[in-house]
Amino acid sequence: MRSRSHGLNAVTEQTGLLFGADYNPEQWPEETWPEDIRLMQQAGINLVTLGVFSWARLQPTEGTWNFGWLDRILALLEEGNIKVCLATPTASPPPWLGHRYPSTLPTDATGTTLWYGARNQFSPSSAVYRSAARQVTAALAERYGKHPAVVMWHVGNELGQISYDDEAAGAFRTWLLRRYGSLGNLNTAWGTTFWSQGYSTWEEILPPRTAPYLHNPTQVLDFKRFTSESLLKLFTEERDIIRQHSPDVPVTTNLMGFFRGADYFSFAGETDLIGNNWYTDPAQPQTWELGALTHDLCRGLAKGQPWLLMESAASAVNWRPHNSAKEPGALLVDSLSALARGSDGICFFQFRQSAFGAERFHSAVVPLAGEDTRVFREVAELGCRLQDLRLLAGAPAPSRIAVLFDWDSWWAAESPDCPTDRLGVLDQLQAYYRPLLRRGLYVEVVHPSAALDRFDLVLVPSLFLLKDEDAAALTSWVSQGGTAVVGPFSGLADSNGHLREGRFPSVLADLLGVSGEEWRPLADNVVLDFMELGPASRSVGTGQLPDALEASVWSEDLRLHGPGAAAVATFTSGPLARKPAVVRNVHGSGTAWYVGCDVPAAALGYIVGAALTEAGITSPVVGELPHDVELATRAGFYFLLNHSPEPRTVTLTEQSVDLLTGEAHGLHVSLDPYGALVLKHSFDHIENGN
Ligand code: GAL
Repeated sequence: MRSRSHGLNAVTEQTGLLFGADYNPEQWPEETWPEDIRLMQQAGINLVTLGVFSWARLQPTEGTWNFGWLDRILALLEEGNIKVCLATPTASPPPWLGHRYPSTLPTDATGTTLWYGARNQFSPSSAVYRSAARQVTAALAERYGKHPAVVMWHVGNELGQISYDDEAAGAFRTWLLRRYGSLGNLNTAWGTTFWSQGYSTWEEILPPRTAPYLHNPTQVLDFKRFTSESLLKLFTEERDIIRQHSPDVPVTTNLMGFFRGADYFSFAGETDLIGNNWYTDPAQPQTWELGALTHDLCRGLAKGQPWLLMESAASAVNWRPHNSAKEPGALLVDSLSALARGSDGICFFQFRQSAFGAERFHSAVVPLAGEDTRVFREVAELGCRLQDLRLLAGAPAPSRIAVLFDWDSWWAAESPDCPTDRLGVLDQLQAYYRPLLRRGLYVEVVHPSAALDRFDLVLVPSLFLLKDEDAAALTSWVSQGGTAVVGPFSGLADSNGHLREGRFPSVLADLLGVSGEEWRPLADNVVLDFMELGPASRSVGTGQLPDALEASVWSEDLRLHGPGAAAVATFTSGPLARKPAVVRNVHGSGTAWYVGCDVPAAALGYIVGAALTEAGITSPVVGELPHDVELATRAGFYFLLNHSPEPRTVTLTEQSVDLLTGEAHGLHVSLDPYGALVLKHSFDHIENGN
């Protein structure tokens, strides 16, 4: 069987770290192509993604093909020693397809057709679309499958289109029949005795189209699962065709990090390497934190092996309402963040800025103003830095800390019938991740069914839906010596999204030493004070919770359960006075923490800190990093990245040497505004990952 890491390693063994961009030569006269290649070479680019949106150029009408331009640009790239990630153009079918076969077009939940004139105008369930996509894929794979320049295949683009059309409804029914086997089972799983929703024939079942009031949550959940699987099928159909003609070249697609529309753990099992797109928002400097978490998701998807940043912006994007440019230096800092967190290269969207079309204002490696520009110079400078860092290529980036995350649970927790919309899954994830960022530690974001034996600490910020077997596996892992921290509103629903009976979170009650009877979202202006109790928290010897503690969004009516449990903090006022807010439970040889409310950042910092101590994980930083400084470790190097326009100083626990200059650093290291340092530990170090 192919291994994902092998897929990427097979490429980087030829190229070193990848440095690239989407290249759309079809937007330019052929006379500019030699100049493009000269500029690629000048910037140090060794990979371009070609053909992502070229279907109408390749197949101008149903029966005609036009490969000459692609033959010519591939030959030029090969001659210029630029490798190619060749894309199937199936994300944007040509107008003739939708015009001639309207069934290929998607419809939204209201039944409105989404027409051509933009991109993504396909229904993942359309047989005609899929057949046309297979045809163009086969034509490309047959012709270029063994082309020496082609080192990677790129299926479609950001697979994410949803459709509620009639063909999708039929495919949904087939999917449901496979899942449930009978209408009776489906009616039970969907709980259709509620609101008189019982189905008497399969034909009655529909996608969750616009309806007068709240949808059945299990119908919605299943439609999301179905859509995700349909998108994955588009990928595997094209991948299998490519593999027939190009068996030695890895096939992937560009993911979108924490994208709601598809379960990337299922994609990770099918792609030959993990490729992801990440676009920092320069107007929101703290988005680097979500960037870091997204990169750590890729690290988890790749099982601790390298992955690839397939798209990022050299400066501004065009698709936010107000698009700030990157500050000088930010391009380097943002790019090194991905590299430090396991990416084996940096790629941009796109090489040359478009002069026309919907992305005219998107930044590019080569702006319309040409090569004598800050952006081009900064890209070229990054190209040089990647040369200096070439020994990173192929270096694994595993972590001892896992964050459990599950698309199923995310979908279920966002159902509008849940008690609050203020306990966002991604917000929770970031809140529990931040104390690690401040300590220069990193994680692998993994599925709840992942084997946990290589981790020492597991964070579960938010798993509303949790399968019995995954809860049992977590419980048994802790009992054998692991440490876990579980956030509120977790472990409540089964895989149908049905709430479990009994005191919650029943499947985790033994692990967490706590059980509850009511969820109590807090009204505006209501805060619940809570305070640390004595010995339970101190026994872990890592200081105390901060004095002023208040929950302002969420609380739960809890009581202790079992002999190992102790309240670390209890509410001091209001209806929950004297009841536990934070619980620590000794379970077998391990420890589990349950945080039953939204705790302030400082308190979460303390709780995560205590759990780190229990798990025996130390930080390379003295105290905490400033909130705009990132420290990531890979292969024995510290990457210190200043995401702010101000100079910053950090204090490390050991001395280091600058990788580039050889300069020795003491424990205090200064960073320039948007400064980036890559430091080698001055002595052998057991890092977070090893
Ligand atoms: C990505 C997409 C690219 C381009 C880019 C602009 O999401 O894959 O085709 O649109 O955004 O930032």
